[in-house]
Amino acid sequence: MAARAFAFLACLATPALADYDPSQYPAYETCALCHGLFGVSHTGKFPNLGGQKPAYIEAQVRAFRDGHRTNDGGQMVTIVTELQPEDIPFVADWFASQDAPAPYPAEDTAVGEASFADLGCAACHDNLPDGDPLVPHLTSQKPAYLEKQMLDFREDRRDAPSAPGLHKNLLSVDDGTIEAIAAYLAAEARS
Ligand code: HEC
Ligand code: HEC
Repeated sequence: MAARAFAFLACLATPALADYDPSQYPAYETCALCHGLFGVSHTGKFPNLGGQKPAYIEAQVRAFRDGHRTNDGGQMVTIVTELQPEDIPFVADWFASQDAPAPYPAEDTAVGEASFADLGCAACHDNLPDGDPLVPHLTSQKPAYLEKQMLDFREDRRDAPSAPGLHKNLLSVDDGTIEAIAAYLAAEARS
C-alpha cells in the first residue's frame, strides 16, 4: 500500500521536475546554504560575504577553484566546481552589493585594538570603502572565522597566493592575542 502511494506521488512529481529550468536558478543560491542568501552566515565556520569587496570575493573563489587556497575543510573546493566561470563575477557582485552585517558587540575590545595597531595591520586593513580592492574588510566579520584565519596564517595553512608572507607579524602572536584581535574587529562597524 505504502509502495503504491509512493509510486503515485512519484508520478505527480515528475511533470514539475520536467518543468524546472536550471537557467532560472541564480548561481548565488548555491552559496546561500552556508553563507546566507544575503551574505550573513549562520555560524562562525562560514564567513559573512555581505558588503565584502567584489574583487576580493572573486579572487578567493578563484583561489579555491585553482587549488591556491585549501584551508576550508574541503567545502569550498568542492562547491566552486559547480560554478560556471561566467557565474563567478555575477555571484561576487551579488554578495558585495548586500549590506554589511551588523557588528558583533564584545565586552572588551581595547587589547585587540592595541594589538592590531602595534602589529601594523591597519596599514593594509584600513576599513575604507575605497581601499585596496584585494584587501578584505575584516570589520563586522564573524569573530570565530577571523580567529581561524589568523591561526591558519600563523600555522602556514593559508597564505595570500599573490603576495606570500603578508601576515608574518602574526607568527609570534599567542592565541589569546589572536582571539582579542578577532573580537575587536568583529565589534567594529564597517565604514
Ligand atoms: C557547504 C558550505 C559552503 C558553501 C555551499 C559555500 N561555501 Fe564559501 N566557504 C565555506 C567555508 C567553510 C569557508 C571558510 C573556509 C576557511 O575556513 O578558510 C568559505 C569561504 C568562502 C570565501 C572566502 C571569504 C573570505 O573572507 O576570505 C568566499 C569568497 C566564499 N566562501 C564564497 C562562496 C561562494 C561564491 C559560494 C557559492 C558558489 C560558496 N562560498 C559556497 C563554506 C561554503
Ligand atoms: C601588507 C598588507 C597586509 C598587512 C600588513 C596585513 N594584511 Fe591581512 N590581509 C591582506 C591581504 C591582501 C589579505 C587577503 C589574502 C588573500 O588574498 O588570501 C588579508 C587577509 C587577512 C585576513 C583574512 C580575512 C578573510 O576574510 O578571510 C585576516 C583575518 C587578516 N588579513 C588579518 C590581518 C592582521 C591581524 C594583520 C596584522 C598582524 C594583517 N592582516 C596584516 C593584507 C595585509
